[in-house]
Amino acid sequence: MSNEFYAPGESRAAKVNDLFARIARRYDFLNDLQSFGLHRSWKRRMTELAQVKSGDRALDLCCGTGDISFALARRGAATTGLDFSPQMLEVAARRRRKTPNSEFRIPNFIQGDAQQLPFPDETFDIVTVGYGLRNLTSWERGLEEMHRVARPGARLIVLDFGKPANALWRAIYFTHLKMSVPLMGWLFCGNASAYAYILESLKHYPAQLAVAEKMRQLNLANVRVINLHGGAMAINYGEKPV
Ligand SMILES: C[S@@+](CC[C@H](N)C(=O)[O-])C[C@H]1O[C@@H](n2cnc3c(N)ncnc32)[C@H](O)[C@@H]1O
Repeated sequence: MSNEFYAPGESRAAKVNDLFARIARRYDFLNDLQSFGLHRSWKRRMTELAQVKSGDRALDLCCGTGDISFALARRGAATTGLDFSPQMLEVAARRRRKTPNSEFRIPNFIQGDAQQLPFPDETFDIVTVGYGLRNLTSWERGLEEMHRVARPGARLIVLDFGKPANALWRAIYFTHLKMSVPLMGWLFCGNASAYAYILESLKHYPAQLAVAEKMRQLNLANVRVINLHGGAMAINYGEKPV
């Protein structure tokens, strides 16, 4: 099965950028719809694991419309959200403008490539990426960059679609991604292909077990995989040794 938004190699980034340009306006609505609102609790779990302490600096890669960036900022981290899509960042900026300044700390958003971060080594106490690694031309490169900009003691956290270990559950789940998710994309966003991309990209992404293995290769400590809903979603966690 091929998808108009997936291409291996160097042309991948342009296609992914095109995809998010097209769906940015409806992205948050479709997220709620397709996950039955559950993505909020998965992101909350992720930000709890970040163990934000006063004075922490956080970087949220592939921040999109900013859910995770806002959540980290709300917990008190000085947060930067980075994404390469101007359209997704425009939605994040609109949310930022609507956020009362006094309520909690507000993230900054910048445009950039998650595979070539514009920050010096050892800058951040928390580095997160939600539903982002899977979209990179090289997810390994993305993780290496997360590691590079993390300070000793930093928490690195990855949230993404997973691959359930149970074959029956995996087949049911992949059928949902193949049938109902593109259908909802077509009905509510006028674009089935952009949502069929989720399964296509997941097939080319080795998911939670390989991310954990790469974290170990980077010598991260306390590497953990937290499987949600039988591994349909997964959080990878690791700490840069002090
Ligand atoms: C599925 S969205 C996730 C948004 C947000 N993190 C969330 O969980 O709702 C993936 C995001 O990754 C961004 N992205 C993909 N490749 C990127 C790259 N190489 N550098 C920076 N951002 C990238 C896209 O623009 C998009 O906003």
